[in-house]
Amino acid sequence: MTDKVTELVSKCLQARDLAYCPYSRFPVGAALLTADGAIVTGCNVENASYGLTVCAERTAIQRAVAEGHRQFTAIAVTCDIKDRFVGPCGACRQVLMEFGSNWTVYLTKPDGTYKETHLHELLPLAFSPEHLAKN
Ligand code: THU
Repeated sequence: MTDKVTELVSKCLQARDLAYCPYSRFPVGAALLTADGAIVTGCNVENASYGLTVCAERTAIQRAVAEGHRQFTAIAVTCDIKDRFVGPCGACRQVLMEFGSNWTVYLTKPDGTYKETHLHELLPLAFSPEHLAKN
């Protein structure tokens, strides 16, 4: 598993280098680990109509689902901030929660060091698909 985490972290750093962020100049990279061991990456993709920007994490999720993946075990995320670990935005936490709460989230610094956390810690008491079935 450690090798896989190293690969995941490395792939999120590579994905960050592909970010399209001419407006914020704040590149973000994400790498998803699927249940079958595949890695799917994403970066933020901005737009001149600013509100149409898509975060790295959501780019990765949309790409993964379109490629047939719906089960995920981990995501690594990174940006250019060197001195602290940075978590996904609230919208992305909710989008990750769509596919379960039991994920590992690796908050990754540019030097490749990471902090391991979990989606249920990042989004406690979350609204999720299971609530829709309880009406
Ligand atoms: N961004 C992400 O890609 N993921 C996040 O979780 C937070 C923010 C992007 C969106 C925008 O392109 C830039 O970072 C600045 O907000």
